[in-house]
Amino acid sequence: MLHISQVEASIGGSRILRGVDFAVASNKVFCLMGRNGVGKTSTLKSIVGLLTPSRGAIHLDGHDITHWSPDKRARAGIGYVPQGRDIFPFLTVEENLHIGAIAQKKKLNGQLDRVFELFPIIKEFLPRKGGMLSGGQQQQLAIGRALLTEPKLLILDEPTEGIQPNIIDQIGEAIKLLRSEGKMSILLVEQYLDFCKELADDFAILNRGAVVCAGPVEALTDEVVKAHLTV
Ligand SMILES: Nc1ncnc2c1ncn2[C@@H]1O[C@H](COP(=O)(O)OP(=O)(O)O)[C@@H](O)[C@H]1O
Ligand SMILES: [Mg+2]
Repeated sequence: MLHISQVEASIGGSRILRGVDFAVASNKVFCLMGRNGVGKTSTLKSIVGLLTPSRGAIHLDGHDITHWSPDKRARAGIGYVPQGRDIFPFLTVEENLHIGAIAQKKKLNGQLDRVFELFPIIKEFLPRKGGMLSGGQQQQLAIGRALLTEPKLLILDEPTEGIQPNIIDQIGEAIKLLRSEGKMSILLVEQYLDFCKELADDFAILNRGAVVCAGPVEALTDEVVKAHLTV
């Protein structure tokens, strides 16, 4: 459903992406891996419209979205949870939750209950300020906010980074549930290997702005990990 074809991009004169190429299948979980600084976040930014490729193309369900604005991509069904989660600390949890859907003028029908079911803590903390939540709770809030826009592609940038183990488990369970429902594709950037192995259908590993290894998650062997992921 998402095809990244030979995408190249530069930031401030240095080439960050050097022909990134992979495809995310419908209703599957795809894990994009790689060491720090190899271009994972930049790849996601090119998909959501925050970094313009100098070459290559991005297709979503057959549409060439390479030059679409970020909000047009969001309306086309791309939900994005950036690295570091980006919630508004001085807005309440409830306001934070609604802001994405309001921006898209979406009516919330059953989706709120759905988010509360996945992350009960959000319901409990609705009146609190976002900044009062722990890092893990903020991550759950950011995922909940993205889900309210009913994306067909949910993009998560290192959702487990700096988060306590019990919340990592809850986020993992939520991704499993979403995956089992088969209504959205999930593109996950993740450095936590076990999390990827447990959740992903397919993977790709980036190194210096290009894919160096990709395949079904069964091909993510110890040798592959040793060659491309260990520091
Ligand atoms: N705003 C920026 N200005 C300059 N260099 C940047 C900027 N953002 C990212 N980079 C550089 O681009 C490379 C890839 O970054 P990034 O995509 O964030 O990597 P990753 O997510 O894999 O850690 C890194 O070398 C980083 O230093
Ligand atoms: Mg990153």
